[in-house]
Amino acid sequence: MKITVIGTGYVGLVTGVCFAEMGNYVWCVDIDEEKIAKLQKGIAPIYEPDLDALLERNLKAGRLFFTTSLKEAVPQADVIFLALPTPPLPSGDADLSVVFKVAEEIAPLLDGYTVVVTKSTVPVGTTEKVKEIIASITEAPFDVASNPEFLREGRAVEDFMRPDRVVIGTDSERAEAILKFLYEPFVRQGNPILTMDIRSSELTKYAANTFLAMRISFINEVSWLCEAVGADVMKVRLGMGLDPRIGKHFLYPGVGYGGSCFPKDVKAFYRQAQKEGVEFLITPAVDKVNAIQQERFAQKILDFFKGDLTGKTLAFWGFSFKPETDDIREAPALKTLAKVLEHGAMVRGWDPAALENVRKRVGDRIYYAENMYDALENVDALVIHTEWGEFRRPDFDRMKQLMKGKVIFDGRNLYDPELMEKEGFTYFSIGRKPVIVNE
Ligand SMILES: NC(=O)c1ccc[n+]([C@@H]2O[C@H](COP(=O)([O-])OP(=O)(O)OC[C@H]3O[C@@H](n4cnc5c(N)ncnc54)[C@H](O)[C@@H]3O)[C@@H](O)[C@H]2O)c1
Repeated sequence: MKITVIGTGYVGLVTGVCFAEMGNYVWCVDIDEEKIAKLQKGIAPIYEPDLDALLERNLKAGRLFFTTSLKEAVPQADVIFLALPTPPLPSGDADLSVVFKVAEEIAPLLDGYTVVVTKSTVPVGTTEKVKEIIASITEAPFDVASNPEFLREGRAVEDFMRPDRVVIGTDSERAEAILKFLYEPFVRQGNPILTMDIRSSELTKYAANTFLAMRISFINEVSWLCEAVGADVMKVRLGMGLDPRIGKHFLYPGVGYGGSCFPKDVKAFYRQAQKEGVEFLITPAVDKVNAIQQERFAQKILDFFKGDLTGKTLAFWGFSFKPETDDIREAPALKTLAKVLEHGAMVRGWDPAALENVRKRVGDRIYYAENMYDALENVDALVIHTEWGEFRRPDFDRMKQLMKGKVIFDGRNLYDPELMEKEGFTYFSIGRKPVIVNE
């Protein structure tokens, strides 16, 4: 099949590469010329496990093309996926301007029957609006469908190749048959392709993301009480999560959720409800708990240093909003960073994949370390935001030699407090008693 993916970001690139891997011809379009130039040379502009090899193989096989020209990519397409950004407006609503603009741009280029698919996360009604826009411009036959994407950054290729489920929302039998045919190679193990109406499909994505964010906010809220009463949230989470009705996933206390999806999707979900005259109560609370959780972590650092970080140097391990990605959008680390810089701290930062993105965002306001140990030289404390594998079992002796202050603020509960005490670290984590070592 001939497929065009418009928007070559985390979702669009993975979508394009994985469809090409199944033998389809795929054109990936983006307005970012630099990105397209890199991709044409086989260089992935993002860090995502397994992506580079698939990119190289499908480019070489002549099944994958990158272009900035819609004229080149649209007319021959059987299916067009819109994998465009839907960022939050200041109101919290999803900004759909790019999706609608691209709908206008592709409409006059459609040639022969085409299925236009919204893969971006969009509020209910968006796909119908896309249909309206295209129909007002072209006489060419087309149908629309909603096909929300559930991939996780850091495991995007794996998730796309073996999805738990594929959701397709359309009112056209023809479009449904084409999309099922396209997705069948990805669900050979028997996972379902769910078909439904367009509105239910659009809503499914927001409900799923909000539910996952809710689990994180819930366990974070539980961690507040654990801290107040001297309980251990890690024990509580296991005690709860082993009940199969609850489940263990997404019950990790931490510095709050970040990334390009949960923060904006939770907001957009309750904004849409509000506009429809439906008062959501849980969803805004999920958002509020998350904001408080991020502030509480920064406050722990400030409290320890009595509100003044002048002359103090902190090491930051981890900036990406989660491991195995270079994505720092809405990353909690950036919130803590802004706070500690504002209070006079100097920062030595390290992340295995995200440092370039941090540099683009904060420039020379921090020192960029060569590796995780370089970040620790002469620091007063270490602050951890991301559970990258290399942080889980570090060389504690080496750390102690390098650090001036043997203090760790662990936003991901990576270490056992008893071990920290034995190793002589003052150790603050989430929802557990702090370890205070008097040097
Ligand atoms: N990132 C995720 O994990 C994830 C998962 C599921 C769903 N989503 C949703 O998918 C959508 C895309 O997310 P993303 O993370 O890939 O975004 P992204 O910002 O990484 O990528 C968007 C791409 O679109 C390009 N673009 C912008 N305007 C364009 C235009 N007019 N024409 C062509 N290209 C244009 C940008 O240059 C960028 O490369 C969003 O709605 C998001 O909510 C994201």
